[in-house]
Amino acid sequence: MWVVLFAFAVAVISSAPNSLFADHATGVRSPDWPHTHADPYLTEDVRRAFQRPDDIPFPTENPYRHDVAVLGKMLFFDPRLSGSQNISCSTCHNPSFGWATPVHPVPNELNEIRRHAPSIVNAAWIQPLFWDGRAPTLEEQAIGPIEDPNEMASDFNTIIRRLHKVRKYREWFESAFPGEGISKDTIVAALATYQRTIVSGISSFDRWLAGDPHAISEEAKRGFALFRGRGQCMECHEGWLFTNNGMHDIGLSGLDRGQGNLPNQPPEAAFRFKTPGLRNIAMRAPYMHDGSIPDLRGVILHYANGGSIWINRRTDIEPFEISESEVNEIVAFLNTLTATNSVSQAPILPSN
Ligand code: HEC
Ligand code: HEC
Repeated sequence: MWVVLFAFAVAVISSAPNSLFADHATGVRSPDWPHTHADPYLTEDVRRAFQRPDDIPFPTENPYRHDVAVLGKMLFFDPRLSGSQNISCSTCHNPSFGWATPVHPVPNELNEIRRHAPSIVNAAWIQPLFWDGRAPTLEEQAIGPIEDPNEMASDFNTIIRRLHKVRKYREWFESAFPGEGISKDTIVAALATYQRTIVSGISSFDRWLAGDPHAISEEAKRGFALFRGRGQCMECHEGWLFTNNGMHDIGLSGLDRGQGNLPNQPPEAAFRFKTPGLRNIAMRAPYMHDGSIPDLRGVILHYANGGSIWINRRTDIEPFEISESEVNEIVAFLNTLTATNSVSQAPILPSN
């Protein structure tokens, strides 16, 4: 069965368009489920609750098209989209660091970025977008960083003029969007399509769910039980992505009011941030919207303490007892959510 699974994963990857999307992997199915060697931590309910989906959801207004995704990948890596022409989307959403930024704050054009760059992995399923949940779709979201003076400090007229000068871009846009060519809408549609193809690869946790009892350690299995039980992590980190996409206050001590800064919010929206998924979590320290927690151990202790000791407000988390070895167990479990086999090749960009 091992060979079958592995061959399946490779087949998915190599049949991906141009092998451009090595992270583009869909579900894993075990042919012989339910298997005979019962694993006390793995019930049929658990398997169902965390099963990967078979397909990536694309909206009907912007369905998947291969040439659009390829174009979107180029734009994502192309610094010509920034005012100074030296920052691309991939500068901050860096595939080498789980599509996030390894430091905080991000050094940028004018001054410092307020928030830590979130990972864009599994973007097809993330809704709403941004730490404060202010963008409903990827199409709308992409306008933000391009025009934000603190991020790429550019504007669409400049970008369109610049891309127009590149013969290959003129040709590719015309063939991907006949009659439309290079415009704000087509740039944003291409970026969104490409980002939807960035899916976390099959991790050891998925192989365990699919029926291999040895894919993860006994320590990680105990960590999973704590994650679902005493740690109450599942209140918010549920399903195969490990998020309910909900807005919550987990008691960080920063001054950023998150959703509470948006117009027309009730008082309880203050300090609420979007719950991130936990796929590939080991690849993108530091953690949280402010990058304030350097490692996973620190994250678990933060929750066990019921939040920062410096704040004085009601939050959405409850403290719990935990021993040193139990912290290690949850960390071991979280590490099983990271797929180490996915590679993403940077595109070759057209010259001027
Ligand atoms: C200078 C760093 C920087 C650059 C460049 C950048 N981003 Fe971001 N990105 C961020 C930060 C910081 C946030 C979070 C902002 C917030 O929540 O207020 C973010 C948020 C996002 C999100 C939301 C993810 C989520 O989970 O909510 C997506 C999607 C995204 N960026 C895509 C892009 C695209 C596409 C580009 C290029 C057009 C881009 N970014 C360029 C720093 C950057
Ligand atoms: C009440 C909802 C809730 C509960 C319960 C919860 N989380 Fe979270 N989690 C969040 C939110 C919201 C964030 C983002 C907070 C922020 O950045 O301000 C987050 C962030 C994280 C991050 C960092 C993700 C990143 O990309 O930076 C990790 C890791 C994490 N949680 C693990 C856990 C674990 C382990 C537990 C159980 C011990 C847990 N969470 C319990 C809502 C929750």
